[in-house]
Amino acid sequence: MRRILSRALVAAMAAPAAAFAVQACTGDDNVVTDAGLDASILDAAGDATEDVDVDAGPCAPYVVAIDAQAPDGGIECGIFQRFPCGVPSGLTLYQDCYFLLDDCQSVCPGSLYFNCHMYGDSCLDGSIQPDADPIVECATCPNGVGRRPRGLRNPGKNKAKSDSRVGAYFANAAHLEAASVHAFRILRRELEAHGAPADLREGAARAEADEIRHARATSKLARAYGAEAKHARVSPCALRSLEDIALENAVEGCVRETFGAAFAAWQAEHAQDPAIRSAMQKIARDEARHAALAWGVARWAESRLDQAARSRIATAKRRALRDLEAELDRQTHPELASRAGVPSMEAQRVLLRTLETELRLSA
Ligand SMILES: [Fe+2]
Ligand SMILES: [Fe+2]
Repeated sequence: MRRILSRALVAAMAAPAAAFAVQACTGDDNVVTDAGLDASILDAAGDATEDVDVDAGPCAPYVVAIDAQAPDGGIECGIFQRFPCGVPSGLTLYQDCYFLLDDCQSVCPGSLYFNCHMYGDSCLDGSIQPDADPIVECATCPNGVGRRPRGLRNPGKNKAKSDSRVGAYFANAAHLEAASVHAFRILRRELEAHGAPADLREGAARAEADEIRHARATSKLARAYGAEAKHARVSPCALRSLEDIALENAVEGCVRETFGAAFAAWQAEHAQDPAIRSAMQKIARDEARHAALAWGVARWAESRLDQAARSRIATAKRRALRDLEAELDRQTHPELASRAGVPSMEAQRVLLRTLETELRLSA
């Protein structure tokens, strides 16, 4: 696994540098991906507010939702703000319906965002629709990868008080790391219940302990940048069938956590803040082991399942790969790239494509 991750890093080094200039609005790379988050989900979002300031006038933008739950159970981090009289004029769209980062200051509340874009039908083919009642989504957490447990609850409003993107980044990372503690605890118990070999059970127990350290380390980094991590809350769920466990492991482990391991390894090499680099070096080492564990669990579980179940798992893995590819549509802010070593969007895509090939993820 370490050799494969190293090959992915080498390949991603050759990725073109992140571009923050205005870009063309056509071509395959410019497809806006909002799959899985439609208006009905937005209406039903957790922590939804109709935060209207009656003193601000009828055209004042107002927040309609903070964070939303996607159909797959994941969290779409964002502040969704409606502009009853349209978005301010003179703003520049790039990458289809995304605003330039500097323009996000004009359309997002506060300053904790990673990018912002026109949401839903209010922007089509790179053009703001004149008669629409536009909503802008301001992303409050960056692309995050890791093992998310079933039953993970919406983290609610971001508690971060600072205006540091790095602080917010690590506050969200700490939430995901804390969620991974639950994920491995559940996996360990389910492996025990299904009579998995000792090395897999011990691997899950060790990973659970690793993730506690990761949550502490990333919380500390968040605090160092003035932000506060959110707690991870997970609703209890019943013991699952082996196929359900293998399905989750394929998506969360073989796809997302494996990519997360490569992502962390990149940060360990590129973060300019010595404290971040040091923390990411330890985390990257552990995450490579977690990725290997996921593939070990997959081999064991699938050896006990029939062909039809294996085929459903392969389909789920391919879909998770496509979903993750679609998530890699955000330019990395320069501050995150330099201080925290977050790979550029282009480098993330190369990392994923290399892993896809090396691990035959789409097979
Ligand atoms: Fe972790
Ligand atoms: Fe992990």
